[in-house]
Amino acid sequence: MPKVVVTGKIPQMALDRIKSLYDVWAWQEETPISRAHLLQEVKGASAIVSLLTEKVDEELLSAAGDNLKVVCNVAVGYNNIDVASCLKRNLIVTNTPGVLTDATADISMSLILMTTRRLGEGERVIRSQKPWAWGMFYMLGSSIQNRQLGIVGMGQIGMATAKRAASFGMKIAYTRRNRLAENIEKELNATYMTMDELLQTSDVVSLHCPYSEKTHHLISTKELSMMKNSAFLINTARGPIVDEAALVEALVKKEITGAGLDVYEEEPKVNPGLLNLENVVLIPHLGSATVETRTAMANLAIDNLISVLDGKGALNLVTA
Ligand code: GLV
Repeated sequence: MPKVVVTGKIPQMALDRIKSLYDVWAWQEETPISRAHLLQEVKGASAIVSLLTEKVDEELLSAAGDNLKVVCNVAVGYNNIDVASCLKRNLIVTNTPGVLTDATADISMSLILMTTRRLGEGERVIRSQKPWAWGMFYMLGSSIQNRQLGIVGMGQIGMATAKRAASFGMKIAYTRRNRLAENIEKELNATYMTMDELLQTSDVVSLHCPYSEKTHHLISTKELSMMKNSAFLINTARGPIVDEAALVEALVKKEITGAGLDVYEEEPKVNPGLLNLENVVLIPHLGSATVETRTAMANLAIDNLISVLDGKGALNLVTA
């Protein structure tokens, strides 16, 4: 029986599907496995089912050894995997696109509403039992109707966020490596812009691009200074796309009005400069965190694994 190593806890239903087929070793704790332990357990594996908290790099691949055929990431983002090393070793890498689109777009929309309407700040007032009273000018936010949402990276999640925002009355602009076909632009009622134009004209900028060397610190001091002083930045993609230190500075200097973050540069660490700022909403990487979505993600990773080990190829092949 081929050995399958599952690097983190996944829904039982998905685990049960492979237990009868393979010799399965699965980490069962909620907290991430230690590197030393994983390097030990991965020896001889034919397949690795990885969570985004584990680095799948040269060290892990060589610890696994020559039986290894496939790495199935239980995430759509795969920046935790050294894909170039995998490809050099003729390994197949898979991810889980599609099944987490709605859940993640829901979180993007939630952060848009939370930041523009100051909901985190309001909740902190109630919880701290500070005195408050309804007032004509008390804790006013910004309306999003007829305001421009600038989507950076118009893939599936960007599009799903655009649709939600449009239904709230926002106008949609986007930037993307390759411009969308005219009929899709029309369907989304979205205007293509260069990155600079999008930053300069948007009231909310929401990040939906993958993380790579090319998108490292895509949003830094220069980009933040191009944004309107009244604008908000939302990140549900990957932390290091934003230069967190530059963001703290921009928020302190009120170069932008607020930010909503689901992801951080060095997760699970959060830049301490963000913690005391009222104009930022901080949530702990919850983009895909629903029971239904996590079950679907784990099942899709397992579908990929079974298909590859059966010799039928990957369903969601990562190519670069
Ligand atoms: C979650 O962050 C994912 O990439 O699936």
